[in-house]
Amino acid sequence: MALVLGIESSCDETAAALVDSERRIVAQRIASQDEQHAPFGGVVPEIAARAHAERLAPMIEGVLEDAGVTLEECDAIAATAGPGLIGGVMVGLVSAKALAMASDVPLIAINHLEGHALSPRLADDALEFPYALLLVSGGHCQILRVDGVGRYRRLATTIDDALGEAFDKTAKILGLGFPGGPAVERIAKEGDASAVPLPRPMVGSGEPHFSFAGLKSAVLRAHESGKYEAADIAASFQQAAIDCVVDRLEVALEGMQGVETLVVAGGVAANASVRAALEGVASGHGMRFTAPPPKLCTDNAAMIAWAGIERLSMEGFAPDPLEISARPRWPLDPDAEPVRGAGVKA
Ligand code: KG4
Ligand code: ZN
Repeated sequence: MALVLGIESSCDETAAALVDSERRIVAQRIASQDEQHAPFGGVVPEIAARAHAERLAPMIEGVLEDAGVTLEECDAIAATAGPGLIGGVMVGLVSAKALAMASDVPLIAINHLEGHALSPRLADDALEFPYALLLVSGGHCQILRVDGVGRYRRLATTIDDALGEAFDKTAKILGLGFPGGPAVERIAKEGDASAVPLPRPMVGSGEPHFSFAGLKSAVLRAHESGKYEAADIAASFQQAAIDCVVDRLEVALEGMQGVETLVVAGGVAANASVRAALEGVASGHGMRFTAPPPKLCTDNAAMIAWAGIERLSMEGFAPDPLEISARPRWPLDPDAEPVRGAGVKA
């Protein structure tokens, strides 16, 4: 049995976890920085990096203590090496390098997106490759075919905003605070999803890509018109976003042969209405549907540790720690064709 220490610091969650190869989360601690970023309505990179630097070392000590193990008893340290806010990534990676070298434990550099992409396998031991993956977070919005560890084919991405970003901007427009996704979901429950006419960008397009910038602008116009309640705008926005996701997935699934399971991961996968809609898509295609529990959808270190477990048996899994560098961009599928407008997201 293998035991891996996972470290995550790529955005605004500082997290450490110990996960074993039996899929047990042996210990985990997570500190959100919501309070520090809330006054600014979004994540401030310098504040994030400083908060990671202050919290990470005691947090790693804490999880080892919670589990009653020493660093030397771990088979590897797995740390997010990108993509993300570079200051935060560097804090986690440099800490991991120091620990790896001091304790002579191998260091595995994890792509944060791979952490999300494999997280459903931590939660569901019956999930085999290949699977269709909708990866929806604050920075990314992609449809991928996952054929194995490190084997990702990107079928779709966003040409502007990510889905989580659209939730966050909607929350900001409606004055719901930060982080936005859970707040929009909460008030959408009180609203009428058909009250506000909103566009469904890209719906009907033959390629499965996403676009949410126009939807966000329409939310702003609806709010500024003064004609609608915030709950109705939130509910209508959430429904429009879901309609887009369902339509895009339908197109992507047509091009995917031999895939029997639909999987969702990333922060927006915590949204119950999104999950329910995807379950519908899967059953329409005779596919199984699986999603990690909400706490494993938003950023956490258990998914990073699990990606480390998955990579442990691969050749060259742990290069010289000093050769690993932090990467602000790190696409899961480097061969994916660039999409018009989609220059900014990995
Ligand atoms: O995966 P994640 O924690 O961080 C990134 O890697 O980006 O995703 C965070 C995103 C944020 O945009 C947040 O608003 C969104 O996920 N999110 C949600 C919900 N919970 C988190 N969006 C909609 N509904 C939710 N319940
Ligand atoms: Zn994430």
